[in-house]
Amino acid sequence: MSNNLTFSGESESSSDENDLVCLITGSNQGIGYACVTYFAQQGLKVIGTARTEEKAESAKTRLSALGLNVDYQLLDISSAESVHELAEYIEDRYKRLDVLINNAGIWVSKPPEQSSLDEDIATIQSVFNVNTMGTLRCMQAFIPLMRKNDFGRIVNITSALGKIQNMSGNSPISYAISKSSIHVITKIVVDMFLSEDPVPNITVNCLRPGFVRTQMHYNTPLDVPSRLGLRWRSLDEVAREVFVMACNQTKETNGKLFHAGKEEEW
Ligand SMILES: NC(=O)c1ccc[n+]([C@@H]2O[C@H](COP(=O)([O-])OP(=O)(O)OC[C@H]3O[C@@H](n4cnc5c(N)ncnc54)[C@H](OP(=O)(O)O)[C@@H]3O)[C@@H](O)[C@H]2O)c1
Repeated sequence: MSNNLTFSGESESSSDENDLVCLITGSNQGIGYACVTYFAQQGLKVIGTARTEEKAESAKTRLSALGLNVDYQLLDISSAESVHELAEYIEDRYKRLDVLINNAGIWVSKPPEQSSLDEDIATIQSVFNVNTMGTLRCMQAFIPLMRKNDFGRIVNITSALGKIQNMSGNSPISYAISKSSIHVITKIVVDMFLSEDPVPNITVNCLRPGFVRTQMHYNTPLDVPSRLGLRWRSLDEVAREVFVMACNQTKETNGKLFHAGKEEEW
């Protein structure tokens, strides 16, 4: 694959990079919090989200200690009402949204003795409702705001388990289906944009972070990545990759899946 992400890529933003308004979902901890920190350190206007006031306040306080001022709002992506309230707030307060990082997500462990086929349908539906429908709800709510300014960069955080080639008989169907479906949504929305005249300056790409030791992986044995020929990736390197994908790309980087700065097959 020839398309590598670099910091030198010319961006085509409709304003100075520091004026970009960025929304990063699920950002009170983990990869989302690392992204909020990195984006704010680059001087961008960042809106972070949490599901409770306590988590929002805690994130704000930790960032203030670093000298960073981030606007934290409540968001539960499983609720259409919550997503719409946030869209109204951003439109009223900022009049624009340039960057959307669809990061919020959940993983529900399957007991090792349970066959993938026996995974509980209610679990599959609830993971799908958060990971996939939540991402779609945010795209439906925020793309209209991006269209008003004819500029938008959307990064959907997916997973190796969303790639058909990586699926195995042990894969939890709940998580795999939820992430592969985000790949499907990405392709369809990009194709829809490309069929418009004029083509809007809005891109949607997917990025899979690899193994990162967040809460999602606290119970994963430390040697799992190395047994697969991989390694644990740091929060900083993933946050930097998300930033490059969101803020340093032209509209030619569109409808693609990236990992570690390189384009991958779906
Ligand atoms: N860590 C990895 O190795 C890895 C690998 C591949 C993909 N990913 C993906 O990376 C993304 C971030 O995961 P992470 O590793 O940083 O995990 P994490 O530490 O568990 O963070 C997940 C974030 O999403 C939020 N969230 C969960 N459900 C939500 C909802 N309904 N509405 C809004 N926010 C919600 C969580 O909020 P609460 O604190 O309230 O729960 C938390 O802030 C996820 O999409 C995950 O699938 C991670």
